[in-house]
Amino acid sequence: MNNTAILCCRQLTKRYKQGDLDVEVLKGVDLSIGTGERIAIMGASGSGKSTLLHLLGGLDKPTGGEVVLDGVNLNKVGATKLARLRNKSLGFIYQSHHLLGEFTVLENVAMPLLIGGESVKQARLQAAALLARVGLGHRVEHKPGELSGGERQRAAVARALINKPALVLADEPTGNLDSKTAEQVYQLMLELNQELSVSFLVVTHDHELAAKMGKVLHMEDGVIIGA
Ligand SMILES: Nc1ncnc2c1ncn2[C@@H]1O[C@H](COP(=O)(O)OP(=O)(O)O)[C@@H](O)[C@H]1O
Ligand SMILES: [Mg+2]
Repeated sequence: MNNTAILCCRQLTKRYKQGDLDVEVLKGVDLSIGTGERIAIMGASGSGKSTLLHLLGGLDKPTGGEVVLDGVNLNKVGATKLARLRNKSLGFIYQSHHLLGEFTVLENVAMPLLIGGESVKQARLQAAALLARVGLGHRVEHKPGELSGGERQRAAVARALINKPALVLADEPTGNLDSKTAEQVYQLMLELNQELSVSFLVVTHDHELAAKMGKVLHMEDGVIIGA
């Protein structure tokens, strides 16, 4: 891994047991993401893209190989330190927003800051400022269920970015959006990429989105080709 890589993995493998069958979903993935880099991963459904993002984000353990995030080998840290590292260094964006329905948009976006130990007042101020930036200043006290799909996804982007993570892992972030809203979400990610040097690793089926990333990788049957 070079010095400026925020995340890299070496020979990453993942096998799932399905009854008597051993299914090898990742077959040795090597990847390195530099600071401020934007990478798209494309590939057929079932090729292992979501599994890879889960392993890179420390949400699941590999069968073999290692993931190094911000200089820390994820195989070698305990659950508490891993959770802290994830909260500090990573943002996650999914195809569906995963906002908590019983909390307001403001509370949802403030939550990673509160988990990180920020005061309630500071967390609310910062969340309100970022929500204004993503065009949701008038929606802060609404519940996620009261927003449109595009508004919810912009709120999810704000939540992923509120901690100024070094890296955002996004799994088909525009998959449920019309092309105009997808473009807005992409522009937002781009602004934050350029202002804060946030790195992005984005799984997408959207060729237009992929073309706007700095690099496009293809996943096929558990390996990355053309890296
Ligand atoms: N928890 C699991 N248990 C067993 N098989 C799984 C599990 N998660 C994913 N798979 C299998 O791994 C393969 C890759 O899945 P996934 O990473 O979701 O692909 P993609 O995101 O590229 O569509 C699929 O064949 C899927 O059925
Ligand atoms: Mg997937």
